[in-house]
Amino acid sequence: MRLTLHVWRQPNADTDGRFVTYIADDVSPDMSFLEMLDVVNDKLATSGDDPIAFDSDCREGICGTCGFVINGIAHGPEPATTVCQLHMRHFKDGDELTLEPWRAKAFTPLKDLVVDRQAFDQIIQRGGFISASTGSVPEANSILVSKDIADDAMDSAACIGCGACVAACPNASAMLFMAAKVSHLAVLPQGQPERYERVSSMVAAHDSMGFGNCTNLGECSAVCPKEIGLDTITRLNADLLATPRKKRKGHITSAP
Ligand code: FES
Repeated sequence: MRLTLHVWRQPNADTDGRFVTYIADDVSPDMSFLEMLDVVNDKLATSGDDPIAFDSDCREGICGTCGFVINGIAHGPEPATTVCQLHMRHFKDGDELTLEPWRAKAFTPLKDLVVDRQAFDQIIQRGGFISASTGSVPEANSILVSKDIADDAMDSAACIGCGACVAACPNASAMLFMAAKVSHLAVLPQGQPERYERVSSMVAAHDSMGFGNCTNLGECSAVCPKEIGLDTITRLNADLLATPRKKRKGHITSAP
């Protein structure tokens, strides 16, 4: 296959970016999207040009490091698929692809397709954990959790924090990310002692870092590679509403 790539190139946050066009030749349908970019980068490096910067680590769809927008869709056209797991067989010879970084006020551009997602870490630092010691593995197992609840928690814990939800949302809201992190602890017994303090603090952190509010458009869930559902946002809002008004630090969003 031969593809035309229009790639966002931007040296750093202080310099304006622009699209630069490259031709990707001899693309195998068995390549992953990132492997295709690796080949393009090898050619750029060989000719003395600066390779295209993009994030990746596991390349197995589990770490959440990769991610950019392909033809207007976060992680590209395949549902429930990270860009590292997207294969070139989903494209055809002659396709033109436009590659852009996540665009959101809270994600500072670093270089080309790479943005700084530390804002997610700061939201987690405000409550995405439990502080009670659960001891060693045998002690943790002394608290029995039913299969239904364990499955519910794991559905939310599947969030890999890639940022696609923010990139897809016209409000650049991180509500789906935060709701997944809140939800997986909110249904477990270990998450109960700090349940309401957690949601209040995380929502306050979310709002203070420039993420927008949720207006129930659902674009976030549509592009989520782990198919996190909007019901997690409903749970987040219910927990925030259940937080005593004097202790509430964040906004009440509209619930789906
Ligand atoms: S590189 Fe880890 S999820 Fe894509």
